[in-house]
Amino acid sequence: MTRIAAGADHAGVQLKDVLVSHLRELGHEVVDCGTSSTDRVDYPDYGEAVAREVAGGEAELGLCVCGTGIGIAMAANKVPGVRAATVHDVTSARLTREHNDANVICMGERLIGAEAAREALDAFLGASFEQGRHVSRVAKIDALLPKEETAQ
Ligand code: RB5
Repeated sequence: MTRIAAGADHAGVQLKDVLVSHLRELGHEVVDCGTSSTDRVDYPDYGEAVAREVAGGEAELGLCVCGTGIGIAMAANKVPGVRAATVHDVTSARLTREHNDANVICMGERLIGAEAAREALDAFLGASFEQGRHVSRVAKIDALLPKEETAQ
């Protein structure tokens, strides 16, 4: 059982809800960070909410959905300790865990079907970081500071 934070904007809420149900059926504990309707909202707010759950240790992994899975990943990646990856299929979902130690999976409701998204999520959860040559590369990602700390 894994504790997973999930969030989406209005363009991703339907897929997010499908995936949250799927995760709960599998026995995972889900922290649903919203949104909960198709009323227009801003994806950075939900990317941040999921990222803070993961960075703070309240959740082990995160799931983010917006229209493309791109903007919400950009937002989540601003939170130190978060490695959010936009994926489109089983292979990218598996490889970003194995090679990048991604801790937030992001998908686009407008780009991926529900079945493919479920399969990609399962692949993400079923994979693990390969360590080895990937350790120092991921450490270099984590060593990059947020812009506001380097802008002086
Ligand atoms: C919302 O219209 C859309 O821009 C958003 O969900 C996302 O695709 C941004 O990256």
